[in-house]
Amino acid sequence: MKNYDVLVVGSGAGMSVTEAAVEKGLRVALVDKGPLGGTCMNVGCIPSKMLIYPADRVAEIQEARKLGIDAQIRNVNFQAIVERMRKSRQESRDYVRKGVQQSQKLDLYETEAHFVADYTLDVGGEKLEGKKVFIASGSRPSIPPIKGVDTIDYLTNENLLELKELPASVVIIGGGYVGLEYAHFFAGMGTKVTILEALDRLAQPEEAEISQLLERLLRKRMNIYLNTQAEEIRREDRYCTVVVKNKVSGKTDEFSAEKVMIAVGRRSNADLLKVENTGVEVDKRGYVKVDEYLETTRANIFALGDADGQQMFTHVANKEAAIAWHNATSKKKVKMDYTAAPHAIYTHPQVASVGLTEEAARKGHRVLVGRAKYLDVAGGEAMMEEEGFAKAVVDGQTGTILGFHIIGPYAPILIQEVVNAMEAGGHVHAITESMHIHPALTELVARAFDNLEHA
Ligand code: NAI
Repeated sequence: MKNYDVLVVGSGAGMSVTEAAVEKGLRVALVDKGPLGGTCMNVGCIPSKMLIYPADRVAEIQEARKLGIDAQIRNVNFQAIVERMRKSRQESRDYVRKGVQQSQKLDLYETEAHFVADYTLDVGGEKLEGKKVFIASGSRPSIPPIKGVDTIDYLTNENLLELKELPASVVIIGGGYVGLEYAHFFAGMGTKVTILEALDRLAQPEEAEISQLLERLLRKRMNIYLNTQAEEIRREDRYCTVVVKNKVSGKTDEFSAEKVMIAVGRRSNADLLKVENTGVEVDKRGYVKVDEYLETTRANIFALGDADGQQMFTHVANKEAAIAWHNATSKKKVKMDYTAAPHAIYTHPQVASVGLTEEAARKGHRVLVGRAKYLDVAGGEAMMEEEGFAKAVVDGQTGTILGFHIIGPYAPILIQEVVNAMEAGGHVHAITESMHIHPALTELVARAFDNLEHA
């Protein structure tokens, strides 16, 4: 048995806990079945955005005619685009490995670990014990029990990054964040894209009006079927056929494509870790239960990132890592607060959101709602951005910002001032009384708040 001050499982968000522990001079073990660097760096945010950025440019060029630019795309070099992503990813992996190897106080175990008792991990037969344990074991794509799913080589957000050739057509099962972002990517590359979504709208957690506009604009570049549940997949020569059932009409239909992508959500990795051998409890979905201080049901065992199944975004995971580390090492504990946790969808158009939707806010507040279109401000008018808009949701009694939602160019950047205002107390005056550069696009945010009225 080897003894450590700190055991960390998972080198994604777990890496910052590892670094903090090493910096404190503690003896640290980091365990990861690989590849090092976690989901975001290897199969999530970073590689996907390297693919999506070129797709954004394609979409812009296709729309440039409205600005009087007659441009034509002669060729999109899929091989070059995926190669750049893979090369950059390899460099990041090398960088992370070098950092870990240089640290004398840190032992790296690159194997699938599992708990044998509280505070004790088995790493390929060897036992490690830690005074404090951090579970940052992440999640993996969930593969639904659709009949025939195992008879095809389906794409996921992970193996898609290894594609050697661009498929001519792809059917994507799931119209959530993963499915939508890759639908945008494939459409930009020239693939014929079909999205099958079981619910009555895309990107279900978003404001309904944002989902609807997103759907209408995406339909210009792909096929979208809502209320459509994938029930069976068949392999037929070079094609895969997905048999679906319409949840409203009950009718069945079939969609064929060279490739099928499964993007129906994530599942916890806690089963691989065998947390059942400890006092660490999991919730109904299999994610590790934590309290508001991110401590599990066992003292000195913390969970963070996708492992706790709260909000599965890298920036949330990084914040959780900082909070968990603070609470593990300080007398005065702080709560993890998700009030101002933003997220974005990198489609075309882009979407960004923070806080409550109007519908959710109405459950506990008398709400004011303000809307502004990109066209209402000079920056948006210059872009001829006719569809995009922002929506503010505010508590009518206190003036506290409850939520903010944007669909349109630069949405993930524009939302940041609202996030900062919410983090700093969240009164609407933080935005409305600040000067906004004229004619910058940030005036869109201020304008939405200027237009507040009782909803
Ligand atoms: P998701 O849960 O967001 O969406 C999955 C969709 O698939 C749902 O709308 C569901 O109704 C649908 N579905 C499920 N079974 C189906 C079936 N049999 N037939 C048709 N439709 C079906 O999951 P997704 O998109 O895989 O994303 C996973 C996680 O990754 C999310 O938690 C998200 O937060 C994170 N993520 C974040 C991104 C970002 O921050 N930009 C980008 C991509 C993912």
